Amino acid sequence: MSEYKRYLVTSALPYANGPVHIGHLAGVYVPADIYVRYLRMCGKEVFFVGGSDEHGVPITIKARKQGCSPQDIVDKYHKLIKESFEELGISFDIYSRTSSKIHHKTSSEFFEKLYKEGKFIEKESEQYYDEQAHQFLADRYIVGTCPKCGAEGAYGDQCEKCGCTLSPDELINPHSALSGNAPIKKKTKHWYLPLDQYEPWLREWILEGHKEWKTNVYGQCKSWLDGGLLPRAVSRDLDWGVPVPVEGAEGKVLYVWFDAPIGYISNTIEARPDDWEKWWKSEDTKMVHFIGKDNIVFHCIVFPSMLKAYGDGYILPDNVPANEFLNLEGDKISTSRNWAVWLHEYLREMPGKQDMLRYVLCANAPETKDNDFTWKDFQSRCNSELVAIYGNFVNRAIVLTHKYFDGKVPADAAPDAIDRQTLEQVGVIKARLSDALENYKFREAVKEAMNLARLGNKYLTETEPWKVAKSDMDRCASILRTSLKICVDLAIAFAPFTPFSTEKLLGMLNLPKDVLKWDNLGNHDILTEGHQLEKAELLFAKVEDDVIQAQLDKLAATKQANLKEAAANAIPAPVEPQKSECTFEDFEKMDIRTATVLEAERVPKTDKLLKLTIDTGIDKRVIVSGIAQYYTPEEMVGKQISILANLAPRKIRGIESKGMILMARQSDGKMRFITPAERLDNGATIG
Ligand code: 2FM
Ligand code: ZN
Repeated sequence: MSEYKRYLVTSALPYANGPVHIGHLAGVYVPADIYVRYLRMCGKEVFFVGGSDEHGVPITIKARKQGCSPQDIVDKYHKLIKESFEELGISFDIYSRTSSKIHHKTSSEFFEKLYKEGKFIEKESEQYYDEQAHQFLADRYIVGTCPKCGAEGAYGDQCEKCGCTLSPDELINPHSALSGNAPIKKKTKHWYLPLDQYEPWLREWILEGHKEWKTNVYGQCKSWLDGGLLPRAVSRDLDWGVPVPVEGAEGKVLYVWFDAPIGYISNTIEARPDDWEKWWKSEDTKMVHFIGKDNIVFHCIVFPSMLKAYGDGYILPDNVPANEFLNLEGDKISTSRNWAVWLHEYLREMPGKQDMLRYVLCANAPETKDNDFTWKDFQSRCNSELVAIYGNFVNRAIVLTHKYFDGKVPADAAPDAIDRQTLEQVGVIKARLSDALENYKFREAVKEAMNLARLGNKYLTETEPWKVAKSDMDRCASILRTSLKICVDLAIAFAPFTPFSTEKLLGMLNLPKDVLKWDNLGNHDILTEGHQLEKAELLFAKVEDDVIQAQLDKLAATKQANLKEAAANAIPAPVEPQKSECTFEDFEKMDIRTATVLEAERVPKTDKLLKLTIDTGIDKRVIVSGIAQYYTPEEMVGKQISILANLAPRKIRGIESKGMILMARQSDGKMRFITPAERLDNGATIG
């Protein structure tokens, strides 16, 4: 492991405008927690910073919608997020918030120093303004059509559909999210961090100095740098946030992405007022930022530029192991569509299953590409890995020790080569596991931990102590002693990933928590002869089908509700005006019936025409129809359609067509044939 004295580990501060979901957990908090738990077990000095990001437009918009103050919103969600992280075992050294006094002071002073040292550009520009709401329209207050993908409802800072970063001026047909009105342009003054000036330094620092960063992170940095950096505004016209500490800046606050990363510093100061500087200003400290991919530019380019501009010994991140996104059941996780597994709901609905979620999210983490979470996969990983491999091995080892040795660790009475060879394998697995953890490869790491349990199961299967016990209790003693040594190894190896189960396992092994040192993984002298075990309990309970079905039903209900809402909000498509009146007699003249397509083929040398042979119930006949753009011949065969049977025959491309297929034309111009709701006799009259 690299020789740093201490580790400062930060995890993205979630916006306190909603609860956290599995996407946040898999991307940021579970890997960060595994990393810090591992470091602590290695005896490293670690400080793990978390907290809520309580500024920014999404919070003020939510407050407006709910008719309360932004403070009410952040109070509610900060508490919910903090408590649910705790319950999941995310072991922050501090989880604070950016609306705190100390954060306002720290970020305000940070800005002030840069301002006084002339590190900002002060610039007046024309920005969108809502005349009705008397407000400038920063970031999400302005919406419009995305210039990149054409999606409606893109925000002034980002399109959620295609994920691109935007500026308000790029939006097509911009309108105010407050009043819906088209905005006007109005002059306003802001402060900009001239990122372009930091570009050569950033190129050197990242592109030359950090080639070891994950490909997704390095690649995103490279494309930002190759695209050329521009000065970035670090203030906004808003009334929620840290006020800009400059005279004449009333009604202006620091841009949320300026103050939020300073939150890492303020939270350290809050927790460690006397020695915070050693965490932030010492070359002996290794700083690692855990984030999701949408945060890469801010943590790799903007925040480091701010720290560089500030100087005063601030260190830069050594690594930024950003993850990609997690999808849910094949669909993008979305707060607005409620398409998510919310942590606080999971904890309520799946009590005692924290480790299962931690395990599955790590085993399936979106480390190199977006990944999908499905409830079936969750169930199968829990049952066939945690229960059937890890839990099963531990249970067999402890139950058998109770059965044959009254729960006392037996003597190593008759050792054999297989015992030594198996225990040697622990060292090999440990090396791979440590290497994966130190290189932020948590999926690989948890697989290695599970390999240790596989090793234990294989050993028991090969040595069969339950058979040996019939003839050779000494050998049985050695087998169980070896198995119990692997149980201790498992408690240690799994501790960063599934800490609650480790605690339970230590309880069964009757061992104190302080054996949880990484050095003890592979130290096989911990259990002494005669040591009394506690009784065996199941380490993991099986995840039953009904529990999974309940989650799937919940998602199905969400999908249904979304469809209903979409239908209710759908803007009616323009329809053709009604034609002039006709009489009943006019209508009666038309012979409309059901028919079935027997054969279909393209009319040669045409793009649009299909020649259809149909059964009208009266006869079999040919109709030529201009539907080749919408249906292939194969699609038409066997379809029941509606026809106007008594239309006078016409010759089309030399083919006599007798009748007409009834088609509906949609607002987008697409034609669909009309088919009865259920199969009817051919020739059934319609009218
Ligand atoms: O993307 C987000 O959820 C941001 N609130 C993350 C901020 S990270 C840090 F800079 F505070
Ligand atoms: Zn887009």
